[in-house]
Amino acid sequence: MDAITFRSDTVLSDIHLLQPNTQHLMVRLNAVGQPVFVSQFKILWDSEQLDCSESPPPSYTDQPPPENTADCGLPEQEREGVDEENEEEEGEDGWRRSGSLELLLDEDGDLDVVRRPRGGDALGRDRIYPIILSKGEEAASDRDELEESDRSVIKIEHTMATPLEDVGKQVWRGAFLMADFILSHRDLFQGCTVLELGAGTGVTSIIMATVAKKVYCTDVGQDLLSMCERNVALNKHILESADGEVKVCELDWMRDDFCTDPEVEFSWTEDEVADLHDNTTVLIAADVCYDDDLTDGLFRTLYRIMSNLRHPCTLYFSIEKRLNFTLQHMDVSCEAYDHFRSCLSDLKNITDGKRIFTLEPVPLCFPQFLIYERIKQLELWKITSSHPDQMKATPAV
Ligand SMILES: C[S@@+](CC[C@H](N)C(=O)[O-])C[C@H]1O[C@@H](n2cnc3c(N)ncnc32)[C@H](O)[C@@H]1O
Repeated sequence: MDAITFRSDTVLSDIHLLQPNTQHLMVRLNAVGQPVFVSQFKILWDSEQLDCSESPPPSYTDQPPPENTADCGLPEQEREGVDEENEEEEGEDGWRRSGSLELLLDEDGDLDVVRRPRGGDALGRDRIYPIILSKGEEAASDRDELEESDRSVIKIEHTMATPLEDVGKQVWRGAFLMADFILSHRDLFQGCTVLELGAGTGVTSIIMATVAKKVYCTDVGQDLLSMCERNVALNKHILESADGEVKVCELDWMRDDFCTDPEVEFSWTEDEVADLHDNTTVLIAADVCYDDDLTDGLFRTLYRIMSNLRHPCTLYFSIEKRLNFTLQHMDVSCEAYDHFRSCLSDLKNITDGKRIFTLEPVPLCFPQFLIYERIKQLELWKITSSHPDQMKATPAV
């Protein structure tokens, strides 16, 4: 086999790197010539509820504020007071991320780099390097143990080490964090109509459909959406025992409307658009903020859709703060995360009289149903949207 060359913008999700299955079945090449693998992820249905009081939820407001300089493209609003409370210079995760360079220097003036602890994996797993199997090759024991029809196994087609424009073809930790939240809060989603944005391989939508009634699983690009649809088909064994349905559709944040052209694959029917607006009460988005222009488009799309929904709705965002030391800043920074926080603040501060948005971090003290590293850089955010009249009518709980 030719040596694999990595482009400078090639990324590989830790989910695939650290997956407990040591072997990956390569099943085909996709439309752009990338090898496609099928991985089986175990669902730990017996996971136990964690006690939030034992491990206090992180206070995200302790983290340094995003500089609110960028315009997220949301309607005009007052920006005063946004994140004023966030003045800390060291996050609860121990990373010093803002303030002056002196904060990063030790007593002698050396750069004091805070590193993630080695081997601090809560699940006690060793790093595993995948062995690639081609179809027809002997599969080894750990894959054989997982039965095709086993409800505790979700099978996902994905690629590995993609360029940035294809990141949706991998599974990201944020998707598993969202899946954990769904599985540990089933009552919140039972029988709901749900919209997922930037669904990628569709793993979170599939998990959501084990609880919800209908999931509009959306992303952009024919190749990715086809992969997503195959994943829905691959997981019939999970979905059949539930009543949920996953509908894969295109929803491009850089467009102002839903594509309803019947000639276009993954376009919406008029009935689906109406159903979405009439019945959706939950939106989810996992690990979708990594490029500021796309984040702006995403927030414009969210604002447009949430403002047009008939019912109040709740949006859950999972995000992983990816920290980098940049020479430009001479500091550890996470611009994509800061821009996300800035857009969240803008949404919360909208005063257009049509909708009221609230914002809160969700403590991550719910159990893990999927196997991945729940690192400290993972966060979950809850945003609610309702009509001002509905707010007045609903007593505060
Ligand atoms: C890092 S991936 C996350 C995928 C999946 N949610 C997960 O966590 O595994 C970001 C996703 O955003 C999607 N995305 C990027 N630009 C988009 C756009 N303009 N419209 C809709 N989705 C977009 C990508 O295709 C990709 O699936």
